[in-house]
Amino acid sequence: MKKFIIASTNEHKIREFQTMLKPFGIKVVPYKDVIKGQFEIEETGATFADNAKIKAEAICEKTGLPTFADDSGFCVKDLAGFPGVRSARFAEEVGGYDKAFEDIKNRLNGKCSEAKFVCNIAFAVKGEKTVQFEGKCYGFTVFPPRGENGFGYDSIFVPNSFGRTFAEMDDAEKNSISHRSVALAQFIKFIEKLTKEAEKKTAVKPLKTKATKVDAKIEESIPVVVEKEEEKIVVDENTFSVEVDEKFVAPEVPFSSESDEKK
Ligand code: IMP
Repeated sequence: MKKFIIASTNEHKIREFQTMLKPFGIKVVPYKDVIKGQFEIEETGATFADNAKIKAEAICEKTGLPTFADDSGFCVKDLAGFPGVRSARFAEEVGGYDKAFEDIKNRLNGKCSEAKFVCNIAFAVKGEKTVQFEGKCYGFTVFPPRGENGFGYDSIFVPNSFGRTFAEMDDAEKNSISHRSVALAQFIKFIEKLTKEAEKKTAVKPLKTKATKVDAKIEESIPVVVEKEEEKIVVDENTFSVEVDEKFVAPEVPFSSESDEKK
């Protein structure tokens, strides 16, 4: 099983990634399990892509292990993409998600707006260029919030073509359409491609040299010798064997059966 470090402390996210990557033989280990002591990463980027890269590269540098990070958030179209990269911080600053929902509702004057979740995944391997994948899930806002599952802004977001919020869906349903699963699908494709290329490199290829052809010809010209060994009858590999030759005489085995005795 491959082991990738995830540069996140968000338990919901970690669980979602663990569930989605397990079928591909990838074990997702939170970086806090590997790096002991205090190690915080500041998300100073202006975009989801910048922040994902900062996080993945910082942990990869520290651990030397293949590391991925995602940066994600909720963007409300009529609020010019707010809260966007500040999704987590905004909720914290106003005193929790219920307050954040109320704030967004007020900013929208109670109107519904188109919205999207965005997720960018960065995958860093020491000595390699970091690769990135982005997924989006489009929908709209709803108030009041609905549903108990999920986390963050799940309860005020209804994805297009669905009548329910993310928080009204179970993990499997959300994972089948979420921004994270779209980004992850691209990440998995990339991993599969890498794995196949690595397998090709290590596979033993049949030699197609002149020497091989010569060897084959030599083999063809050697008469087949049937070894005497073939006459060896192995009665039971673990007990004994009987050599068959002209002098071999089957032993007289005395027997008496019921029918013989009656004769
Ligand atoms: P990050 O951990 O810096 O990527 O912050 C992501 C924040 O965006 C979360 O703390 C949530 O507030 C929000 N967010 C991202 N993905 C989701 C999701 O799937 N559902 C609900 N909120 C999300």
